[in-house]
Amino acid sequence: MKLKIALLPGDGIGPEVTREAVRILKAVSSINGYDFQFAEYPIGGVAIKQFGKPLPEDTLKACLDANAVFLGAVGSPEFDSVPREIRPETGLLALRKALGGFANLRPVKAYAALADCSPLKPEIAAGADVLIIRELLGGLYFGEPRGFSDSKHTSAFNTLRYSAEEVERVAHIAFKQALARKKKVTSVDKANVLETSQLWRSVVTAVAAKYPDVKLEHAYVDSFAMRLIQSPTSFDVVVTENLFGDILSDEAAVLGGSLGMLASATIGGKVDLYEPVHGSAPDIAGKGIANPLGAIASAAMLLRHTGKLEADANIVDAAISHVLDAGHRTPDLYSGKTKKYNTTWEVGGAVEQQFSDSAMRRYAFHAV
Ligand code: NAD
Ligand code: IPM
Ligand code: MN
Repeated sequence: MKLKIALLPGDGIGPEVTREAVRILKAVSSINGYDFQFAEYPIGGVAIKQFGKPLPEDTLKACLDANAVFLGAVGSPEFDSVPREIRPETGLLALRKALGGFANLRPVKAYAALADCSPLKPEIAAGADVLIIRELLGGLYFGEPRGFSDSKHTSAFNTLRYSAEEVERVAHIAFKQALARKKKVTSVDKANVLETSQLWRSVVTAVAAKYPDVKLEHAYVDSFAMRLIQSPTSFDVVVTENLFGDILSDEAAVLGGSLGMLASATIGGKVDLYEPVHGSAPDIAGKGIANPLGAIASAAMLLRHTGKLEADANIVDAAISHVLDAGHRTPDLYSGKTKKYNTTWEVGGAVEQQFSDSAMRRYAFHAV
């Protein structure tokens, strides 16, 4: 098993959480004798400082040449007022477009050990296990024309555009994922107002006919936002357009106790892209307290989707649960019961230790 992985740590806590994800991937490769090759490239604010642009050509070339790309986070308050073309986030969007992955998988799970960390009543969040599939290359993020109408910036416009083909391909991913889960898809739109959503709804309905074993429901995004928090266990796979998916996945983070827990995988293009859902968290960057579990869970998704290493991915996921059960946690997972906090490094180390123990036990079992 050989994998060339391009690492883009980026800004803020990006490098801090990427380090822990790589640590786990290295443990996986050394225990199993896989050949994982890592090389690091600049993106976002660090790239702007070094090269004057958020996605340098060498970075893009290396990503296109890799089997998988792992990104930490981009963005920094110092670039908040620069023109969009040279913002850190623009580099990430250009990378997503170039890699071509259109289905962004964002799983959200309510861990029993974190029941106290969520503002939701434990009985509401308990057992929640939702896979949000966010369309990643269309909608308002990429629609043209866009811009300011005049030089004085007195008005501005963006274009919300979807083709049937863009909806169809992400819908197929949603139904396929649902087949391997609880066989339910909730398609979220605003079809009572937007033509793009009317198209979305009719294309998803047509695709559903090819998956008779999967139950499809449609929901309007406004009431869905409420139901996601009111009755999270009633959902399985959720598929939605780019901007709705961005917002709903951060909202869903409260089910899991912290935004720092959420992982993502972007599939369907030339090269798969893995990134935690959270951003560069400038408020805690450099303090060594960022939660690395979203990044580590993204590494598990890399093992699963790009590496086809389901067993290893499952061991990493189980190690995350175990480490939470054992009480290792960064300060974002605060609850009244938490006595002491762990650093990013300590939590990563606990996952590595747990992974190694389980993997060695598995080896010993297979050896007899
Ligand atoms: P954010 O996700 O960076 O932070 C939101 C809140 O969650 C903050 O209080 C932060 O401390 C906390 N948080 C986030 N990740 C955490 C972790 N791993 N451990 C502990 N706490 C964590 O969102 P924001 O503050 O709105 O944005 C900051 C910057 O990040 C902006 O420049 C934004 O554009 C960028 N951003 C980048 C990505 C990405 O690179 N994929 C995603 C979202 C936001
Ligand atoms: C995310 C982020 C990005 C997005 C930004 C940083 C461009 O919020 O990955 O959720 O809006 O897609
Ligand atoms: Mn977001």
